[in-house]
Amino acid sequence: MEWGMKNRLARIINPKSRRSVMLAVDHGYFQGPTTGLRNLGKTVEPLLPYADSLMITRGALRNWIKPEINIPIVLRVSGGQSILKELSNEVITTAIDDALRINASALTCSIYVGSEFERESISNLSKIVNEGQRYGIPVLAVTAVGKEMARDARYLGLASRIAVEIGAHMIKTYYCENFSEVVGACGNAPVFIAGGKKIEEKAALQMAHDAISNGAVGVDMGRNIFQSDNPVGMVKAVRAIVHENASVDDGFEIYKS
Ligand code: R5P
Repeated sequence: MEWGMKNRLARIINPKSRRSVMLAVDHGYFQGPTTGLRNLGKTVEPLLPYADSLMITRGALRNWIKPEINIPIVLRVSGGQSILKELSNEVITTAIDDALRINASALTCSIYVGSEFERESISNLSKIVNEGQRYGIPVLAVTAVGKEMARDARYLGLASRIAVEIGAHMIKTYYCENFSEVVGACGNAPVFIAGGKKIEEKAALQMAHDAISNGAVGVDMGRNIFQSDNPVGMVKAVRAIVHENASVDDGFEIYKS
């Protein structure tokens, strides 16, 4: 692997522990002013010290995040749809030269395996992998799950493995029963889990814990952190689980405190 690619990956995933906490705040690209992100800067700023990287769009970055921050940016470069229409109908929104201008440490887009625009979304991934390879920027593939898809190891393994075969350097998928099969399908590619819709804090911490125990390198979590009644407590708890192998009970105490 080329030096720049290795260096960018090492900024996102600790190369010694192979663990990582990615904070996802890119939801507005199809959800608009998502609960908790209306004033994105105010929500995100106190969370940044506890995250290893920030997943965000270029527009949110330029509007709400100070350029002086020192955190790797995982830049969402796909979009073009909204919650009002077919979600799989994405295009690449952001040119590679703008990603370089922003100093992105990684690019990210979603693939919608089994959905109406499956082929187009996989083609988006291949395009950004090709551009990323040219400039030494790794790509995180997000396996977006259509309403009609089962979130099981068979489906998530299929979608994740396709992303690996296309050349994604990191995979973001959902936690499921037999999750180690999904991780196994990804070979050496590191696997993150998304948090999904807001659930009770202890259940979210349990999910993070189970994902790590079953081979995930970390979480790329959004709503279960920034929609919590204690977002800073929650990100600290997630960090302890990911980086310090804290138990769910210990994590829950950290959240409460
Ligand atoms: C969805 O496509 C976005 O990439 C979100 O960043 C992702 O779903 C992770 O956020 P959450 O933990 O809120 O699901």
